[in-house]
Order: sequence, then structure tokens, then C-alpha cells
Amino acid sequence: MVQHRIECVDIGSEYCPCHLAETNDCLICSHLQGKEFCDCNWRGVCVYQEYVWNGNKSKSLRSETVCEIEEKIEHEGNLTILKIKTSRTLSRQLKEPGAYVFLRDVNLPHYYDVPMSVMDADDMNEYIYIAYQTIGAKTKMLKKLNDKVLVRGPFWNGLIGIKYIKSTRNENCLILARGIAQAPTLSVIKKLNRNGCNLKVILDKGRVGKIFLSKYLKDLKIGYTEVNLMENEGELLVDSILAKENYGLVYVGGSDLLQKRILDLLEKNNCNSNLVVTNNEKFCCGEGICGSCTTFTENGEIIKACKSQMDVKKTVERRNMLG
Ligand code: FES
Repeated sequence: MVQHRIECVDIGSEYCPCHLAETNDCLICSHLQGKEFCDCNWRGVCVYQEYVWNGNKSKSLRSETVCEIEEKIEHEGNLTILKIKTSRTLSRQLKEPGAYVFLRDVNLPHYYDVPMSVMDADDMNEYIYIAYQTIGAKTKMLKKLNDKVLVRGPFWNGLIGIKYIKSTRNENCLILARGIAQAPTLSVIKKLNRNGCNLKVILDKGRVGKIFLSKYLKDLKIGYTEVNLMENEGELLVDSILAKENYGLVYVGGSDLLQKRILDLLEKNNCNSNLVVTNNEKFCCGEGICGSCTTFTENGEIIKACKSQMDVKKTVERRNMLG
């Protein structure tokens, strides 16, 4: 049986090797999994060497910082957009597609940490922008905040297939996003736009009831089509688009069900586009410790989805099989 090769999103970063190396649970390095031989999927960095050079210990966990909420805009549909003052370093680290942070009230215990995609990051002025929908206990407590918020980060595994976004240049790309998943989509659009790609953007207001990316897209001079992607009209539109034109990359921001519908359309139209999707696993710590994001490959291999980049199509299939 072919062994699944996992890529760790943190490899080579200032947070690698992480504490998983100390318990022989490194996702990448066979030595730091307690094995005698060297058998990593070489990514230009030797995690074991980094570990030894760091005094046979892991590097620090992400820090928590109390940040000012500079602006809070509440929309209908339980949508809130926060403008948060951070440091230049953190805002720069959060500019990449897939970036996210944990937020919570300074006075609440860490159980209230809630992962939030970074919609936009302005490193010149040291701001990050977060859009979230109030649904459960964590977001309801977050909504009460007006002045300060505890920010833990940076984290980067909010999307699966990040390498395709980085490597796609001067190609046609199809961008589909629904509801609150518009938030992680903005940095994808910005990156592909910078890479000279020709973007076709289709947005669905979903349960937030608003295309909150419209003003950002207007600034970027990028048009979009609005449609309900979960209804027949949306399916027919995407089907006809895929039948007419080739896309080097297709991005889907939305639920597992939406991702599966689009994957089925890609297969129906024999598209071999690279697929990028939002990472919909449940994150609690983001550091590979708590296990809330644990999932399995078809080989039964355990995966920590908060740190692992996986095969995108297999992940979409598996998540829909599990329901
Ligand atoms: S979120 Fe805790 S292990 Fe992944």
C-alpha cells in the first residue's frame, strides 16, 4: 500500500521543530518519530538538524498578544468585521492565503479560543481584518468585545492545497466562495491577482446574507457573479463555465458539501485543475496537541489537520463520506 506523504505547513518556519518533535510525533522527520533511519520527504529543511541546533528541544509555541480592536462593524445576518491593531511582524506573517489566528476575551479561559481566518492584513499600518459569523458560545462571547482582544498566532493551515496558490501564475483561475467562507477567499484572490492570473469569481452570500467582499473586489477592479451555489442555478452556472474553459486552479471556499459538489462537476467535465479548498476541520489548539482536528487517510494513517497539507481531492471525498 502506498504510504501517504504529509506536508507540514510549519516546516522551515520559526515554529519548527515544534513540541511534537520532543514526543517523537513530528509529522515529517523519521528520526523525530523515533525511527533509526532518515526517510523524510525532503523539503529543503532538515527538521532533525534544526532540532539538534536548537539544543535538542523544540522552538516556542505561538505567543498570545492583547490587541486593540480599532473598528467593529456589525452587519445583519450575525456578520461582524473587526479591524485589529497588531504588530508589523504579525500582520506581515498573516498576509498569506490560509492564515488564521485564535481570538478570545482576555478575561476568559483558553477554552474560548476561536480560530478565525484572516480576511486581510495590512502590514504597513499593522492591521488585520477578521470577518466572522456569530453562531455558538465562542463567537457569542467574542461579539461582546469592543476594545481589546487576545490574539494567538500566526497559523497558516486554513486552506488545503496552499502550494497550488503559491505556484499558479498567469493562468485562468475559478474562485467560488459561499457565506462566511468569503473571508479566507480575499487573500487567495489577492495572491492570484498578484501572480498575474485571470480570475473568474463567483460568490454566494449564503447564510451571512451579504457579499461582504464586494467593496474589496471593487478596489481590486475584479468583477464577480452572484449566485446560490447550493441550488440548481449555481450548479448549472459552474458546470457551463467548466465546460467552456480550462482552469489551472479552482478554489472552493465553503462547506464540505459544496466542495464535493464542485469536485463532482470537475470530474464530470474531465477537468484536471488543481483544487484548493477551505480546511473545514475543527481546530482548538492549532499546535497539533489537542487532537480535535485529528483525521485519517484511507490507509488509516493519523493526520493532524491543523498542521498537515493533504491530498485535496481525497480529503474532500473522505470528509463527505464521514458526513
Ligand atoms: S487543533 Fe489541536 S491538534 Fe489540531
